[in-house]
Amino acid sequence: MATSTSVPTTGQDPDPAGALRFPADFRWGTATAAYQIEGAAREDGRTPSIWDVYSRTPGRVRNGDTGDIATDHYHRWPEDIELMSRLNVGAYRFSVSWPRVRPTGCGPASAKGLDFYRRLTDGLLEKGIEPVITLYHWDLPQELEDAGGWPARETAYRFAEYAGIVADALGDRVKTWTTLNEPWCSAFLGYGSGVHAPGRTDAADSLRAAHHLNLGHGLAVEELRERLPAGTEVAVTLNLHQLRPLTGSAADADAVRRIDGIANRIFTGPMLDGAYPADVIEDTASVTDWSFVQEGDESLIHQPLDFLGVNYYSPTLVSHHEGPAAHGADNHGASDHSPWPAAEQVAFHQTPGERTAMGWTIDASGLYDLLTRVRRDHPGLPMMITENGAAFDDYAGPEGEVRDPERIAYLREHLAAVHRAIGSGADVRGYFLWSLLDNFEWAYGYSKRFGMVYVDYATQRRIPKSSAHWYGEVARTGELPMR
Ligand code: FCB
Repeated sequence: MATSTSVPTTGQDPDPAGALRFPADFRWGTATAAYQIEGAAREDGRTPSIWDVYSRTPGRVRNGDTGDIATDHYHRWPEDIELMSRLNVGAYRFSVSWPRVRPTGCGPASAKGLDFYRRLTDGLLEKGIEPVITLYHWDLPQELEDAGGWPARETAYRFAEYAGIVADALGDRVKTWTTLNEPWCSAFLGYGSGVHAPGRTDAADSLRAAHHLNLGHGLAVEELRERLPAGTEVAVTLNLHQLRPLTGSAADADAVRRIDGIANRIFTGPMLDGAYPADVIEDTASVTDWSFVQEGDESLIHQPLDFLGVNYYSPTLVSHHEGPAAHGADNHGASDHSPWPAAEQVAFHQTPGERTAMGWTIDASGLYDLLTRVRRDHPGLPMMITENGAAFDDYAGPEGEVRDPERIAYLREHLAAVHRAIGSGADVRGYFLWSLLDNFEWAYGYSKRFGMVYVDYATQRRIPKSSAHWYGEVARTGELPMR
């Protein structure tokens, strides 16, 4: 629940026309990730990542889709920057492909790979668009997976080295950096349920992976701080789950606590508070003894951050469940293996309400609750919405136009929730719409369209949807029209 802070009276009042005004320095951005848009999978020395191998494995990705070509952004980036510029986008969050800039994961850096990102950032800066880097959006070099992947401690050190390489190449021009994107997905979908690359299914390994992702984050932040000019922002992006109990029972409250532990506090604990929560360690004792956490690791992970990146799509509804394991609709894809270690006694439910093409319930109050919770639990920590958006079954009409009123409604509701959270005292600095372009939606391949710009994959033609024009106006004016 919101704490009772007085609502700021300057800069955020609804204007007479029914628009909500955002703070003047609020950043209006859009986001993508390398594997989802770049293509050029075998070009300029890039080696396979776990997603190349996974997507080429029959049965893993819908329709056998891969990121080999994707939206061909590796070649079409000037056009994509031009598009962003026309749409008044002020900031662009993209990820650097590790196997493109350090092929094999541990060898020498690739000059060609780094040059691509130099050209891209220079192109953005020329148009006045602020580049925001994500260092890891899930594309671990396959050679590092073959050497053990994230369950292996060494991977954390390789990640920090890679962070240093990118910092040396781009630190003079990029002022905002995040280490990991959604480490929960990397650990628990990648090594627990196996619905993401590398597709392994071992609960103990998923917890080891979570720790080594945390460690990689801490080591990378150190590396970045050493190399980047003072004043550069360094952060991490988490997909914090906004959890709700099915009933008011004590057992359901405990189900919320348990999932909150392995969804959220397993990351925020060491990253923001300097220690793993005791209940998380106890809850998972049947799966692991946590001996992979070495002396000093937690303080290494606990680095000062300039903001927390928050990704939000939909809330999660849980209840206590007696009897055999009940793992059901939790929005994270179907598998015989649960992504939730030692949580057999928790059942997941579909939250009521309208859904997107992903089947995810549309509920902007979850975003408000999440932002006010972070504010309460971590006072003084600024936040950035690094992803929010929705997939719908968009198509081009007879005149080549793409109308997506559902997406406009989704964005409006969620931005209003952000505005309300700011009014309640949450220090939210910006919003990045997921995504600039329709793209490779992981295990769903190209079947789900999240873009504000439609991509005709046969021709690679880009068509801004009506939501892109709408969002461009919001970005230009800093005002959210409520009708
Ligand atoms: C997030 C991912 C992003 C995209 C959206 C829909 O979990 O970070 O790459 O797939 O979901």
